[in-house]
Amino acid sequence: MLSQKTIDIVKSTAPILETHGVDITTYFYKTMFEAHPELLNIFNHANQSQGRQQTALANTVYAAAQYIDQLEVLLPTVKQIAQKHRSLTVKPEHYPIVGEYLLKAIKGVLGDAATDEIIGAWGEAYGVIAQVFIDIEKEMYAEAAEKSGGWEDFKEFIVEKKVTESSLITSFYLKAKDGVSVPWYLPGQYITVRLSIPGQKHLLNRQYSLSQAPGSDSFRISVKREADHNPQGKVSNYLHDRLNVGDTIEASAPAGDFYLEKGEQPVALISGGVGITPMMAMLGSIAENEPNRKTVFVHAARNKDAHAFGEEAGALVEKLNDGKMYIAYEAKKDESEVCDITGYVSRDFLQQVIESNSVCYVCGPISFMRAVVSHLTALGFSKNNIKYEFFGPALALEA
Ligand SMILES: Cc1cc2nc3c(=O)[nH]c(=O)nc-3n(C[C@H](O)[C@H](O)[C@H](O)COP(=O)(O)OP(=O)(O)OC[C@H]3O[C@@H](n4cnc5c(N)ncnc54)[C@H](O)[C@@H]3O)c2cc1C
Ligand code: HEM
Repeated sequence: MLSQKTIDIVKSTAPILETHGVDITTYFYKTMFEAHPELLNIFNHANQSQGRQQTALANTVYAAAQYIDQLEVLLPTVKQIAQKHRSLTVKPEHYPIVGEYLLKAIKGVLGDAATDEIIGAWGEAYGVIAQVFIDIEKEMYAEAAEKSGGWEDFKEFIVEKKVTESSLITSFYLKAKDGVSVPWYLPGQYITVRLSIPGQKHLLNRQYSLSQAPGSDSFRISVKREADHNPQGKVSNYLHDRLNVGDTIEASAPAGDFYLEKGEQPVALISGGVGITPMMAMLGSIAENEPNRKTVFVHAARNKDAHAFGEEAGALVEKLNDGKMYIAYEAKKDESEVCDITGYVSRDFLQQVIESNSVCYVCGPISFMRAVVSHLTALGFSKNNIKYEFFGPALALEA
């Protein structure tokens, strides 16, 4: 229990954190990795270089400070982060390290303004917040291990099949090396894969959504080659170019809080580019378990060459008694490319094809999600009926 004085100090200093949050978390990561380079085996270095992880952590620390006396408000966010922590094997012994360097960073950035009293209050508050994470994560580890076919940390998988899905996306079917069938998962969840790449000093971890409905004995992930920017994506290019049938890769158990909820409510699955992966698991699950559910599948791709899972999604929609599929190509190469929309998915289009009482699942590039979520909000869909997944550290789209 925190004293009222500690709560008051933490709340009154929260606005300083809002202003200096990213400076503090940038300082924090730099000094922590200098002292504990072994942690570079679990963090994503690209997210660090782009500042996304620093921003995500700063936002959470700021929110935790604001709600320090009613942490239950933050539980959904904590659970989402804890899912990712669990999938990366963050353990209780890591929390004191993060706490130490976070406090040093607050002191380092704020200087004399961060008095001993303030640092003391923040130290206490961090302990309380860390314990909330540790308790939730303990339950998640136990749940992952106790499931039929489950395990706690990482486990070895063999690439069973490698299939080209489009000019940019390739699927990998992963079968457990010990021969045990993979556990049941919720359609929309992801796994973390961990690789040791020749020439790279540290292990590389990346999340990939499971791109087929649960129930098979292996996982399928579908990876987009990140080749548009410099430097090129490390893991996706390695997977495309070097990981072949028969090779071994490590994976942690399925995680994530973006998943299809069963029910009567009509559903809209709206994806852009490789954001189609969780939607394939959801669509497959609807086809198998809820074929009467009214479903609209909207997918936006750059063009026909980049359009993955066209036939597979079409076949799944065919199995539905009330299902529709719409495809948008940003720019058709020529008139032989057939689609329902040329250009971006517009607000008017969404209004025409999605029933107003639907629950909408959205996944794609950030700009795509920002546009679609703002269209859906403007059309009157409530927050509860708009669910989205980031393929990177979560941001607040509404901000
Ligand atoms: C929940 C979740 C689900 C996901 N599901 C999928 C999925 O189903 N399919 C899929 O393909 N991806 C998915 N992703 C994304 C995936 O985890 C990887 O982020 C993606 O494959 C890129 O990894 P990479 O190693 O190839 O690229 P990285 O090496 O991580 O690089 C990513 C980007 O950062 C840039 N970058 C790297 N280093 C620097 C630097 N020093 N300075 C500036 N920019 C830099 C690169 O140019 C590149 O554009 C998912 C992510 C999450 C969080
Ligand atoms: C109370 C303390 C902590 C808070 C508030 C916190 C917060 C966060 C947040 C907001 C994210 C981004 C989630 C997302 O991807 O959407 C995250 C990711 C992550 N956290 Fe924590 N975290 C804490 C403790 C720790 C600890 C102790 C470790 C282990 C050393 C850790 C390791 C990670 C890693 C590896 C990621 C993924 C980073 C990436 O993909 O770049 N965190 N955390």
